[in-house]
Amino acid sequence: MAKKTYKHWKVVKDDEGIAWLHLDIPKSSANTLGEQTLIELDAIISTLAEENPKGVVFLSDKESGFIAGADINEFTTFDSEDAALENIQRAHSIFNNIEKLPCPTIALIHGFCLGGGLELALACKYRIAEQDSAKLGLPEVKLGIHPGFGGSIRSIERMGSFAALDLMLTGRTLDARRAKRTGLVNYAVPERHLLKAARETVLHPPHTAKLPWWETLIRLSFIRPLVANMMRKKVAARAAKEHYPAPYAIIDLWQKYVGNREAYLREEAKSIAHLLLGYTAQNLIRVFKLSETLKSLGKDKSFNVKHIHVIGGGVMGGDIAIWCALQGFDVTIQDQRHETLAAVLKRAAKLYQRKLKDRRKVKNTLDRLMPDIHGYGLTKADVVIEAIFEDVEVKSNLFREIEPKLKRTTIIATNTSSIPLEELAPALKKPDRLVGLHFFNPVAKMPLVEIVVGNKTSKKAKQTAMALTKHIRRLPLPVTSTPGFLVNRILMPYLTEAVTLYEEGVPPALIDKVALKFGMPMGPIELADTVGLDICLKVAENLAQSMPISISKTLQELVNKKQLGKKTGKGFYEFKKGKAVKPSISNSPVSDEDIQNRLIARLLNETIACLREKVAESEDLIDAGIIFGTGFAPFTGGPLHYIEYKGQENLLAMLRQLEQKYGDRFKPDAGWESIQPSQ
Ligand code: NAI
Repeated sequence: MAKKTYKHWKVVKDDEGIAWLHLDIPKSSANTLGEQTLIELDAIISTLAEENPKGVVFLSDKESGFIAGADINEFTTFDSEDAALENIQRAHSIFNNIEKLPCPTIALIHGFCLGGGLELALACKYRIAEQDSAKLGLPEVKLGIHPGFGGSIRSIERMGSFAALDLMLTGRTLDARRAKRTGLVNYAVPERHLLKAARETVLHPPHTAKLPWWETLIRLSFIRPLVANMMRKKVAARAAKEHYPAPYAIIDLWQKYVGNREAYLREEAKSIAHLLLGYTAQNLIRVFKLSETLKSLGKDKSFNVKHIHVIGGGVMGGDIAIWCALQGFDVTIQDQRHETLAAVLKRAAKLYQRKLKDRRKVKNTLDRLMPDIHGYGLTKADVVIEAIFEDVEVKSNLFREIEPKLKRTTIIATNTSSIPLEELAPALKKPDRLVGLHFFNPVAKMPLVEIVVGNKTSKKAKQTAMALTKHIRRLPLPVTSTPGFLVNRILMPYLTEAVTLYEEGVPPALIDKVALKFGMPMGPIELADTVGLDICLKVAENLAQSMPISISKTLQELVNKKQLGKKTGKGFYEFKKGKAVKPSISNSPVSDEDIQNRLIARLLNETIACLREKVAESEDLIDAGIIFGTGFAPFTGGPLHYIEYKGQENLLAMLRQLEQKYGDRFKPDAGWESIQPSQ
């Protein structure tokens, strides 16, 4: 047995002549492929090419998995496309050299095997995945790029065009079983058999499977454009080309080069170098880093929450309890009504079946979610999450009633969407235990949770709330306890402007279309209908006390008529099978440009007000909150980043013009004068 240790790699040659290449990046919980790691790998592969081992096995010494991708921090360091291309071509040549090794080469995969990590695995002749933990994917498109180390053509060669393009275009991950079924890996085996499977594969290399017959058919020069156009149409329904060029580049590469491997590899490198330096990729990389920043806020070594007690089993409380149990916590859920608790359990079973698939896992998770009409869980809970009716008196009464039953250290987190904590804290003997944990609807989909910090909230309560949020795989954003916190405060002027446009006779479908064109994930009218018009009205009424928001008559009338949007089947739109039916767009009294300017100007103006008042601590946190809380066009990098890009003076001039035409609601916030242009 011979061993050679590098900074990132360790090469162990065993008695059978197999070289085991262990990757273990120092001071990092996950392996990534950065420049230094690749330079070392280059040297290792050159040596192995001369030594001619019996087989080469790549594996990771990290618990978290194989390789999580390329090193994203290096993505923003290139100062030109040429510099990026040179770097990418170097990786190409290393991966080509791996491919050329004459012996069997194997990637032994547990946990995450993503992006560049999967591309390395694809350069091997065989891939063996650990059946329970492996997650494989090419998620580059989410960062505005595509595979860049030869993974485009290599994934197609293993899985066929449709499955590989689906992986690249959606960025989804596959578990080991699906990876095996689609041909991405050769074997899915239990952990205890991994090493044996690798050794067996080296000693008795199997034949690789052939692609299906229709793969030849779709590659024919007259069929390819048809297939490509079909895919373009599908992509266009989700992402506009001018905002998200990467998926279109993936399809273009396939259409032009799928029959010519060498050209495919060459052009993939050029295309990714071009995308990487572009506006969208740089901003999406920023958004990814913002999510990492939010996650890091939730780090807390002393975090010790095991039992969560949720009060209120309605839309929010029910979903919060369901989600927390899914993430491994013991949860008791209390409501006044038995029927509500029964409905929660039914919803839970449905979600767990969808997410976990395995009957045993579903049962174990359901066992952690305990209906508790009498509130027995209160005495044991480490955290109580309150999600009852949005009313100061009702919530205060509940606090008075439950506090004597709690442990001294128990934290109370309220899910209020609009009540400042200072109005609720007086009901408690220990007001420092109160913090806001503002979830968004639907809990299982919305990534952000606002951590509302009142003037009495203790550091411990704040830190526990942030850590809990991270533990349930959500992003914590600390905000001040001011009306609307951050997200609703930003959204409300934008939504009320949309309703004003509607009242001026602009077709609602046009308002939504213009917002989508700007890059919003959903138009404001459909968003209001989805959130529920009663909730919108309540938040608007609350905010109207502190900001220039007019309460729309239309909104009040719809709420009076119980046309509350999606949940009642009718609001601004009618809903069929949960989908808004949008009437065709007739003439509009306002131009598209004006619609967009008015919607976005109000949102940006309120963002500046939040920055001035420090509702969240920094510009980055404000951008992060608005992107993850409202879905604000991610390819812009967030509203403050967008302001910087467009030029503060230009946007200020636009606001002034709108103020002259439409009045005070467009009055530029004082904060515009004091923002520092970045260097
Ligand atoms: P909901 O009306 O669906 O549920 C409230 C539940 O609380 C009901 O099941 C009711 O039986 C129960 N309840 C009321 N008083 C109780 C008491 N004293 N003891 C035990 N159970 C009691 O309301 P929803 O929409 O779930 O809202 C709950 C809270 O979450 C509110 O503060 C709301 O502002 C906030 N919120 C709502 C969002 C939404 O989109 N619906 C989003 C974010 C926050």
